[in-house]
Amino acid sequence: MSLYDMIEDLKRRKEKVLEGGGSKRIAAQHEKGKLTARERIHKLLDKDSFVEIDLFVEHRCYDFGMEKQKYPGEGVVTGYGTIDGRLVYVYAQDFTVLGGSLGEYHAKKITKIMDMAVKMGAPLIGLNDSGGARIQEGVDALSGYGNIFYRNTLASGVIPQISVIMGPSAGGAVYSPALTDFIFMVDKTSQMFITGPQVIKAVTGEEVTPEELGGSITHNRVSGVAHFRGPNDEEVLKMVRNLLSYLPSNNLEDPPQYETGDNPNRVSQRLMEIIPDTPNKPYNMKELIREIVDNGEFLESQEMYAENIITAFARLNGKTIGIVANQPRVLAGVLDINASDKAARFIRFCDAFNIPILSIVDVPGFLPGTNQEYGGIIRHGAKMLYAYSEATVPKVTLIVRKAYGGAYLAMCSKDLGADMVFAWPTAEIAVMGPEGAANIVFKNDISEAENPAEMRQQKINEYRDNFANPYRAAARGYVDDVIIPSETRPRLISAFDMLSSKRETRPPKKHGNIPL
Ligand code: HXC
Repeated sequence: MSLYDMIEDLKRRKEKVLEGGGSKRIAAQHEKGKLTARERIHKLLDKDSFVEIDLFVEHRCYDFGMEKQKYPGEGVVTGYGTIDGRLVYVYAQDFTVLGGSLGEYHAKKITKIMDMAVKMGAPLIGLNDSGGARIQEGVDALSGYGNIFYRNTLASGVIPQISVIMGPSAGGAVYSPALTDFIFMVDKTSQMFITGPQVIKAVTGEEVTPEELGGSITHNRVSGVAHFRGPNDEEVLKMVRNLLSYLPSNNLEDPPQYETGDNPNRVSQRLMEIIPDTPNKPYNMKELIREIVDNGEFLESQEMYAENIITAFARLNGKTIGIVANQPRVLAGVLDINASDKAARFIRFCDAFNIPILSIVDVPGFLPGTNQEYGGIIRHGAKMLYAYSEATVPKVTLIVRKAYGGAYLAMCSKDLGADMVFAWPTAEIAVMGPEGAANIVFKNDISEAENPAEMRQQKINEYRDNFANPYRAAARGYVDDVIIPSETRPRLISAFDMLSSKRETRPPKKHGNIPL
């Protein structure tokens, strides 16, 4: 055979693999509103940047008639390319080939690019669309998953790992996404569950649809397993690109900087009006964030879950920050189990990837009740204390209204290592709110008074005047400065600039033991 014939042969071989599961199965994929694995990769990456590897990999299974057939690409497309010019590694399971099921060599293709991503210090993006462990390959398929989980764990905190669920993800297969940093889901066409509806019906008798059980709304709103959702493949892939714009490629780099065009010295009169005159009246913390950050843009992670706390990426003068903010509009902004879990994980991600943290505080306390206590609010709330204390990235805290008790500490007080703490004049920093405090401290004065209700109100007012303000804390240096709300943006930008060379170390250890 001449070289030219060999090249023709090579082309034919490649074309065969590029056909995936064939036109019928591709049409079925499209009918479901889903793109194919290669179409997805091309939408995700910069134009013409994808370089595929392991195109010719084949399985070596001899059971269930598998020996008679080869499966194009082993049901997964792997390689690398760029997003906004930056290197990323990607795998996309091909549902048109044996349902994207994961066998030994399918897994080897994935673990090869995982190893490369870690060595080269570039994000890993997994586009998941699979029937799970390839039944015909038995324990080899399970081992394949094990190898992926192991690498997910080793890569955690080294490179950003992003999972996009674009079809079924069932059984133990859900654990690779769960070990990664962020999970995106596509509305209606993606589902994640450990045991599917049929098994649930057989074991517990409970009837549930796949969508109710593990669809995008369920995991974004109810379980907190997923972080983002979008209406279709194309939109979700755009969202992945947007998320990456906030992140560094690895733990040794700083996040990329952008020219956002927003004046760093911009003051905002709107900030003077956001906090209502009545202390118990809610307002939307997102409005406040919008006034502060570049161009009013921020990207919320877990937007629909534990809405009493906001976790978001934004930019200040073109540089990425992570924001953790109480949301007074939901449950008065209290900290509860889910909010603590959500915030703690976000804080740890930011710390791992050199993203400075801004905490915006308006928190009346931890949510009381047997539900919370029995659910372990003690150990869940402790995660926030742990995560903030452990974090060595620049930490700036802004107290805009309430900061009471343990929740004051849990929102990154000075003592947990906040580098700069600012308060607005509207801040109330104390062990508890005036009503509760007056009942306890002035119990006798109130019960012995001629008019107990009047005396109670008088004591509440006295307490508020004396303690529910930022000046007690500022007098001790727990607050570094009390600032005019309209000037918040320039003050924060100047603080983060000052902190940009921060270096802080922790005692050497194998790893800490965060309460789980
Ligand atoms: C081998 C599989 C497969 C699997 C699907 N296929 N899942 N082949 N192993 N796990 C094949 C089908 O035979 C079919 O092949 C093609 O993929 C498409 O599947 P369909 O059933 O026709 O598609 P659809 O109707 O859309 O249903 C998709 C599905 C269903 C819901 C994913 O296929 C399904 O329930 N599959 C099994 C899911 C499962 O229980 N997996 C094991 C989970 S446990 P043809 O040739 O007809 O195109 C697990 C353990 C991991 O993964 C443990 C890690 C620790």
